[in-house]
Amino acid sequence: MKTQKNIPLKKFNTFGIAVKAKQFIEIKLIKELVAVLKEEENIFTLSGGSNILLTKDIEKLVLFLNIKGIKIIKETKNIVYVNANAGENWHEFVQWSIKNNFGGLENLSLIPGNVGTSPIQNIGAYGVEVKDTIKEVHAIDIKTQKKVVFKNENCAFGYRNSVFKNKLKNKYIITNVLFKLTKENHKLHYSYGAIQQELKKNKIVEPTIKNIANAVINIRQRKLPNPKEIGNCGSFFKNPIVTKDVFDVIYKLNDKMPFYKTTTNYKIPAGWLIEQCGFKGKRFGDAGVHKNQALVLVNYGNATGNEILSLANNICESVKQKFKINLETEVNIF
Ligand code: EPU
Repeated sequence: MKTQKNIPLKKFNTFGIAVKAKQFIEIKLIKELVAVLKEEENIFTLSGGSNILLTKDIEKLVLFLNIKGIKIIKETKNIVYVNANAGENWHEFVQWSIKNNFGGLENLSLIPGNVGTSPIQNIGAYGVEVKDTIKEVHAIDIKTQKKVVFKNENCAFGYRNSVFKNKLKNKYIITNVLFKLTKENHKLHYSYGAIQQELKKNKIVEPTIKNIANAVINIRQRKLPNPKEIGNCGSFFKNPIVTKDVFDVIYKLNDKMPFYKTTTNYKIPAGWLIEQCGFKGKRFGDAGVHKNQALVLVNYGNATGNEILSLANNICESVKQKFKINLETEVNIF
């Protein structure tokens, strides 16, 4: 474990923003994390870098969390408990689970990022959220360096939300996550239109978890840019949830608007709102809006964090003017 100086962070954030870390340490073990925290409280944690827009150099000590390891902790006939360490790449972990025929994560295939950050924003796709498979989140208290275990019910999971994004923000560092997966009688989720179409195309009537994972991979590859080719952080904004009154006003004027009904409100796809404002596929220098999914902002090469941010602000302003809806970012801005 060695502190490095003036490290370029372009390859450590999937937006590919060229900022620097004044000081940078790679953490491979929990005990190394504890040792660093004992010495330094002024830290910035970086993991997969797939949900952050960096707009400036980082003056704090950057901790690059790279703790690896996947282990089966306990098994019954139907259930397996798997511990995955924070630095494991999310998609590789999902692939590992599919290879072992462990069910629950298949719909979450190909989501960029690492295991340790998956609970923070409760990653989700195609009718499944990571909270559905999480049993416990293990973390280190930054102040006391004590190990803390959060049971699922204490994580306040919500749509792209958790206690780690709110009340406990910057108070803990997640080191590992305990997942509860199925070994048989998998609970499959394939009612989502796009998955149904993909299975039909491949003439699959009774899908396995592998079939579902492959369907999700194909859909995502078609629609979403690969961060290895074009810098991006997936959905930049959350889909706004509005009351029936607000929904009715917009729907009256736009009866083709897609929407999802929640228990009492309506969720409107931000991608649709942004497309209606004319931004889809637009490019401003190296900052742009993806041509297949307007919810994804992209860096074509050398955009700065501030250029992406100013595009995001323009989008918010337009959506507000046209629909009277305030978009909220899903990506963290630094
Ligand atoms: N749409 C448009 N124009 C666009 C994009 C979407 O009209 O440019 C419409 C689509 O036609 C569709 C609706 O909006 O009717 C929803 O689109 P999509 O199925 O692509 O899903 P989304 O709501 O835009 C969410 C998640 C994605 C996740 C997909 C699939 C959020 C913020 N995003 O996107 O998650 O993959 O559903 O479940 O909830 C991510 O968080 O990074 C992410 C990619």
